[in-house]
Amino acid sequence: MQLSNLLTIALAGLASASPVELVERQQKLRIMPLGDSITEIACWRAFVWDQIAAAGFANQVQYVGSQNSNPQGCRPTTTNWDQRHEGHSGWLAIDIANNYLANWLRSTPADIVQFMLGTNDVFRGRSTNDIIAAYTKMVQIMRAANPKMKIIVDLVIPLGVGSNSAIQALNARIPAWAAGLNTTESPIVIADCNTGYKTSDLRDGVHPSIAGDQFLATKIGPPLLNYIRESLAGN
Ligand SMILES: *[C@@H]1O[C@H](CO)[C@@H](O)[C@H](O)[C@H]1NC(C)=O
Repeated sequence: MQLSNLLTIALAGLASASPVELVERQQKLRIMPLGDSITEIACWRAFVWDQIAAAGFANQVQYVGSQNSNPQGCRPTTTNWDQRHEGHSGWLAIDIANNYLANWLRSTPADIVQFMLGTNDVFRGRSTNDIIAAYTKMVQIMRAANPKMKIIVDLVIPLGVGSNSAIQALNARIPAWAAGLNTTESPIVIADCNTGYKTSDLRDGVHPSIAGDQFLATKIGPPLLNYIRESLAGN
């Protein structure tokens, strides 16, 4: 076969090889927004993406996860924001740790995981100890998937319905828990999404309103941008 024919075939293969976009995605830094409905049906993901774009990183990073949705119809400044995520409405940290996270991280590997979980565990009466044990298991799974995983754990937003004591008990445990598992290779930082969060910024007593989402973005965006800068610098 002539060289020109081989080239034609090779080029045709490239053109039909839809994976060009896929390869581009594979080369980007991968951020998994992990959580429940406060991650899925919320606009902070979009507002944090605005911060990523404003910092000039929009072409170098991506959100990853099995979900690709904008159920709240968020309209950030950036029109083509990445709507992928791993937010699952109604799900418990305990179930995600025990049954799902390992597979999710196999399907869509990540370099950074940002998570807020525990609200549904609290609704179902799960103990603080059991939720913290699930957090520990999640960190173990993240590090088994990627020994250099950078982790952001959020203090959980308050409830506008019922008692907040179980949410407060969980949040009170998170700093010492995170410090105890913190390592140089796989750091854990806390985004304090609770202190100063006004329950009037809940649209239904549980989920953030737009003002609540903007508040969350001011808490989650900065530590995420720190991680992005470190990672893109090779650290
Ligand atoms: C983990 O270590 C890093 C680096 O020393 C630090 O910035 C961070 O605050 C620590 N995280 C916790 C939860 O203590």
